[in-house]
Amino acid sequence: MSNRITSLFGIKYPIISGGMVWCSGWKLASAVSNAGGLGLIGAGSMHPETLREHIQKCKAATNKPFGVNVPLMYPEIETIMDIIISEGVKIVFTSAGNPKLWTKKLQDNGITVAHVVSSSKFALKCQEAGVDAVVAEGFEAGGHNGKEETTTMVLIPQVRKAITIPLIAAGGIGTGEGMLAAMALGAEGVQMGTRFALTQESSASQEFKDLCINLKEGDTILSLKKLSPTRLIKNEFYNEVQAAEDKGASVEEMRALLGRGRSKKGIFEGDLVNGELEIGQISSLIDSLPSAEKVVEEIVAEYNIRIENILSTKPLF
Ligand SMILES: Cc1cc2nc3c(=O)[nH]c(=O)nc-3n(C[C@H](O)[C@H](O)[C@H](O)COP(=O)(O)O)c2cc1C
Repeated sequence: MSNRITSLFGIKYPIISGGMVWCSGWKLASAVSNAGGLGLIGAGSMHPETLREHIQKCKAATNKPFGVNVPLMYPEIETIMDIIISEGVKIVFTSAGNPKLWTKKLQDNGITVAHVVSSSKFALKCQEAGVDAVVAEGFEAGGHNGKEETTTMVLIPQVRKAITIPLIAAGGIGTGEGMLAAMALGAEGVQMGTRFALTQESSASQEFKDLCINLKEGDTILSLKKLSPTRLIKNEFYNEVQAAEDKGASVEEMRALLGRGRSKKGIFEGDLVNGELEIGQISSLIDSLPSAEKVVEEIVAEYNIRIENILSTKPLF
């Protein structure tokens, strides 16, 4: 398959593994890139020097294109960007912030920039800011999420209408059929988080992965709406958040309840009771922990089978 996304990033398949705190280090990113997709290292949970180490290891593990995801609310953002530039990273996916802030500087240093949004209004702002591609992420997604709760099904066609630059769909995609649906709605590639978080190469703890592959529909929910809406598994920590929100807790009280290091505790250290457990709705469809290469192969095979089935089906009328 070749389209604007495969050409933009120099990859075989328009399949991207999203940057994910505590999951997507060099092992996962290089495995996805070696399989023909685009692997992203998630800088969001890394100290600057840890990120440098992951970039260097990724360069050693693959000669294919890979990128780095940088949530822009990162406190050491200047240092992070300096490391990305000095290490010669060629692709950056920014998120959680204003795309105007870093796009030009990154592009001036030969970097291709994509930015993640959850509305067509912000997709248009990305286009105006000159980004090379937009990731539109629906509310099914794991991790931080849009306040408006727009689903991928509704979001992608609207973003498609709003912008002309390359469009990547994210949120609730974990199969080749899901990818095909996103492409039918106007996307030119997909970014998957949850599916790749639940692979051998993901650095999430075994406890977290085992819990996630046993989740059922309805076991995740958009929570922490007063701080930054985040899709979480309903565990004890979520119950505490809910109780506090029901009592009308202030932003400061919610911040104190969240504390520091909650997602590390949950995802990386496997504290399934007190940790913040971020994963997407599509986890309820996932029941195995294959290698990242197998995931890419399966997605491509499912996509091809489904498109052939559709093409050989008679029109409705
Ligand atoms: C555990 C986890 C951590 C995530 N961390 C980040 C992050 O640090 N930065 C970011 O831009 N997106 C983050 N995301 C979102 C993913 O990059 C991706 O866009 C999203 O997972 C896509 O939806 P899906 O989970 O339905 O596949 C995270 C998602 C998960 C599941």
